[in-house]
Amino acid sequence: MNAFPNATVVNHPLVQHKLTLLRRKEVSTAEFRRLVRELSLLLCYEVTRDLPLEKVSIETPLEEMQAPLLAGKKLCFVSILRAGNGILDGMLDLVPSARVGHVGLYRDPETLVPVEYYLKLPDDVRERLVIVVDPMLATGHSAAAAVARLKEAGATQIKFVCLLTVPEGLQVMQEAHPDVMVYTCSVDRQLDDHGYIRPGLGDAGDRIYGTK
Ligand code: URA
Repeated sequence: MNAFPNATVVNHPLVQHKLTLLRRKEVSTAEFRRLVRELSLLLCYEVTRDLPLEKVSIETPLEEMQAPLLAGKKLCFVSILRAGNGILDGMLDLVPSARVGHVGLYRDPETLVPVEYYLKLPDDVRERLVIVVDPMLATGHSAAAAVARLKEAGATQIKFVCLLTVPEGLQVMQEAHPDVMVYTCSVDRQLDDHGYIRPGLGDAGDRIYGTK
């Protein structure tokens, strides 16, 4: 039995290969960013797998035919700042018409509770399939808080995309938001005492933006 019914691990060989390249400590900032973009594109392919299609009439150079097109399901990608922005580019390559929202949260050093410092969402978020992106679903507390905020804003259909997660983070998400499916490249072993995913890939924001 799957211990985490709320997780879809994308086991495609290209995804696993690129994830291995990404994890290596010697990867340059430019290469890291390029790999994140490519992985995001592949994760986007998976998270949009069940979008509804409708048949429309088109003409090829040879004849008329009924062909499938996306049935007008509107998407909104929501990035959890700042590392989530690294995932957006690949996603927008595949779905350029999607709207984009941003959520900024920091952890209060005393209470450890996530506090919102920024929120900007499209007005019609309640009508869209919302795909929340953050490279690392670690403790799960920021992710769960961000999803709660989106629900307060009216979002009803939400999915979560990350590069890596751990059982602890999936558990927190499952308890807080059992309706939200998490798409990831790997469920790693565990969180360490500093909240880092092990074996992980280090600090995703620092590696994307070269800040350390
Ligand atoms: N955030 C990161 O960037 N890396 C981790 O391992 C955990 C949280």
